[in-house]
Amino acid sequence: MPDFPYVISHFDKHIQLKKQLLQAFKEQKFPGVKNNNELIYKTDWYTEKDVQREYLKIFYDPITEHMSHVFNSIKHDNPIYQTFWVTQYKKNHTFGKHHHRQSSWVSIYYLELPKNTPITHFLNVFNEDVFVPNIVEGDIITVPGFVWHWSPVNISNKTKTVISFNVE
Ligand SMILES: [Fe+2]
Repeated sequence: MPDFPYVISHFDKHIQLKKQLLQAFKEQKFPGVKNNNELIYKTDWYTEKDVQREYLKIFYDPITEHMSHVFNSIKHDNPIYQTFWVTQYKKNHTFGKHHHRQSSWVSIYYLELPKNTPITHFLNVFNEDVFVPNIVEGDIITVPGFVWHWSPVNISNKTKTVISFNVE
């Protein structure tokens, strides 16, 4: 068991919206990232906030409706959505250990999670245990922003795509 609260929910519109969301993200020219903590195929994390995200036009209403029930269940009233971003991993891509210190909660929605692509790992800071949740494609995990986590190297030839969002 991890040393922090977390919620796993399943996005009820996953099957319905998956293709549209992937297509909308694919059509926008967001960059890859290569630095000492990240090797990422494509993300809009570093793209200016005022650049319209086409996928958000599809995603925002259904996901905030879904998450209102999740946040109710953990007594987090009036969630404020700070940022949404997509991260796409192909073979050998990874995101090193980090946390989201400015956010009460961070959610990761597994839009594309083929077999053998890596699930996010989470750290128990008291004993260095690593928590790997039971996640399937279409799930959303919500954890406190202070929790250290990372995406291990994708050893498969398949693409993993997540949409993350920070909440205060
Ligand atoms: Fe993260």
